Amino acid sequence: MYRYIGNKTRLLAEITSTAMEFIDEGSVVADLMAGTGAVSAEFRRLGFSVIASDIMTYSRWHLIVQLLLSKSPSFSGLESLLTGSGSPYKRVLAYLNSLDPVQGYFYREFSPEGIPANGSPSRKYFTSENASKIDAIRVKINEWIDEGALTLNEEALLKHTLIMSANEVANISGTYGYFMSRFSSSALAEIALTPVRLHRGRTDHTVLQGRAEELAPNLSADLCYLDPPYIKRQYAANYHILETLARGDEPEAAGKSGLRPWRDQYSNLCTKTKSKETFARIIGEMDCPVFLISYSEDGLFPVEELYDLFSDFGKVSLREIDYKRFRSNQSRLSKQITEYIIVVEKR
Ligand SMILES: C[S@@+](CC[C@H](N)C(=O)[O-])C[C@H]1O[C@@H](n2cnc3c(N)ncnc32)[C@H](O)[C@@H]1O
Repeated sequence: MYRYIGNKTRLLAEITSTAMEFIDEGSVVADLMAGTGAVSAEFRRLGFSVIASDIMTYSRWHLIVQLLLSKSPSFSGLESLLTGSGSPYKRVLAYLNSLDPVQGYFYREFSPEGIPANGSPSRKYFTSENASKIDAIRVKINEWIDEGALTLNEEALLKHTLIMSANEVANISGTYGYFMSRFSSSALAEIALTPVRLHRGRTDHTVLQGRAEELAPNLSADLCYLDPPYIKRQYAANYHILETLARGDEPEAAGKSGLRPWRDQYSNLCTKTKSKETFARIIGEMDCPVFLISYSEDGLFPVEELYDLFSDFGKVSLREIDYKRFRSNQSRLSKQITEYIIVVEKR
């Protein structure tokens, strides 16, 4: 499973069954903090028309793959390179997997044999072998983009696949906030791009990128699902390496952890002072009668405070889900946690 804080893969049934109390078949559902796209994909599977967005670029690629593709694209711009049998997608991956390693940006900044440009000790997010394979793949994808050889959906599929495969071998304990001092056994495995499963069904969905509070005034939907960050940790800082894979750039890697500049993707929802007004903007300004908001017992606010805030907009009700969370053996956090779905029926 995708290691992403707040990934709702295990709560899909509760979220969608609550939503279906308020909407009919074929309705328009918005998922404006969509992350991995797991919830959007489930709404698609159930036959809804989906508008999905998030601040992060990696999320945009995930969402394009989860919502806008139903079969693998033709990669016709790469035809002359592809040999062997299988779908064009599989042949493109075989081509990328066979590239000679390149000692480039990932090798320099994120592997133990690299020498970071800012003079920090070398970092251990990936083995040197995997970092140089990632470099080779990134260079090739960028070349293809510059030559105009990829459609947007093809770029999305390749970057989504690269992110998922890199995530499998990243030497991290949960997020990319820092790397582990010793390589884990999964990080020692050789990276290989493996084809992802594409969903069937309608593709007339909308994928956007941006802050929900800025997009909401221009959106209409029958129901809007909001899955905000619950805690102060900014996603842009904790998933900086996925963002770099998504953008295909070579930003300054700062400090010991190699953090990219990330303030342009700062979220007001991670701060106590600004998150209430941000929620109020989204709910107040979007043309939508029903909002479902996921929240957690561990969140920045007691759920009662949000309940009071949302009461200004209409009728509020609360669903509680007892949820077994993932935790490491050393963790002092309790095994059981209550997740909430707050329903706001706007006046
Ligand atoms: C709890 S995660 C969502 C997880 C998602 N439901 C899933 O299943 O993968 C919160 C998401 O909110 C995004 N985010 C934070 N602030 C945002 C904002 N103001 N507008 C849009 N997205 C935001 C983060 O990038 C992150 O992907």
